[in-house]
Amino acid sequence: MPLDILITGGAGYIGSVLTPTLLAAGHRVTVLDSFMYGQSSLLECCASPGFSVIRGDARNEGLMREAIRNKDVIIPLAALVGAPLCDNDPIAAKTTNLEAIKLLLSLRSRDQRVLYPNTNSGYGIGEPGVPCTEESPLRPVSLYGRTKVDAEQALLEAGNTVCFRLATVFGMSPRMRLDLLVNDFVYRAMHDSAVVIFQGHFTRNYIHVRDVVRAFIHGIEHFDAMKGQTYNVGLDDANLSKLELCERIKQHLPRFTYLEAPIGEDPDKRDYIVSNEKLLRAGFTPAYSIDQGIDELIKGYTILRNTKYSNV
Ligand SMILES: NC(=O)c1ccc[n+]([C@@H]2O[C@H](COP(=O)([O-])OP(=O)(O)OC[C@H]3O[C@@H](n4cnc5c(N)ncnc54)[C@H](O)[C@@H]3O)[C@@H](O)[C@H]2O)c1
Repeated sequence: MPLDILITGGAGYIGSVLTPTLLAAGHRVTVLDSFMYGQSSLLECCASPGFSVIRGDARNEGLMREAIRNKDVIIPLAALVGAPLCDNDPIAAKTTNLEAIKLLLSLRSRDQRVLYPNTNSGYGIGEPGVPCTEESPLRPVSLYGRTKVDAEQALLEAGNTVCFRLATVFGMSPRMRLDLLVNDFVYRAMHDSAVVIFQGHFTRNYIHVRDVVRAFIHGIEHFDAMKGQTYNVGLDDANLSKLELCERIKQHLPRFTYLEAPIGEDPDKRDYIVSNEKLLRAGFTPAYSIDQGIDELIKGYTILRNTKYSNV
């Protein structure tokens, strides 16, 4: 049955894949976004009669009151995403990532369903060899992580919500993000042929952007069975250290050289392995491997290249 869906931050990296996918499935989608990065990623959607767009701020009460009216499903993606960006403007980080979620919860009626993307970086530094499950303690180390974890808690307390804890996302999107680990390393491997790594044994979990979209759709379709719960969303066979990730990239780009720096450290201290079994038990199976993602990124970076200040 076609649903009326509001996506805040729908012009971002994830939203720019999610929005056209939901439209193609026959839903009506309204995107509310500030377009703070000058994105043109949703232009393709404009021809779709089911698509509506609001240029505005998810912290604006009047605007949000209007935007959520008559929506069956709300997907709040709007956020300042990533620790460095939040540290640049802590007030904007708290108001966007946490206060805007509380505002949304105060405005929606209880029968409106909310699906939310938390980050699994809240697991921080895990116990060696022990996978983090949804029961593991959340110990976010950054302001970004704290605002996301606090927002998740508010959503779970409010009820009629599903919260996903996303691994580091990779893959091409019409609003591309080169600041995500796999996307960044493949870009460097292609265009610089080299990367220097700090703390190469630090391990993380990964998920393709299209599998994130598939997880949201699974959550919409199985909402009643999944509501009130958190779910890790990642590839169980991709708990990879930075060195292992580089080795995988080198299999695709043999000229790639990576070196572990003997001094210096990564400001991002996360080091954990994650179990995604709960989501698998809820009937979801990821469709895209890390190797498919690397192949896709290589094609994407054949198109995208920062040559503005260089002749080659
Ligand atoms: N990409 C990942 O690896 C990842 C992992 C875990 C969780 N998430 C979460 O998924 C969501 C989307 O992330 P993304 O990777 O697409 O990031 P993104 O930065 O590409 O998208 C964020 C979007 O929000 C919009 N926005 C920012 N502030 C706004 C405001 N005040 N009002 C309206 N719009 C605003 C931006 O213009 C942008 O389109 C975020 O909530 C993020 O925390 C992402």
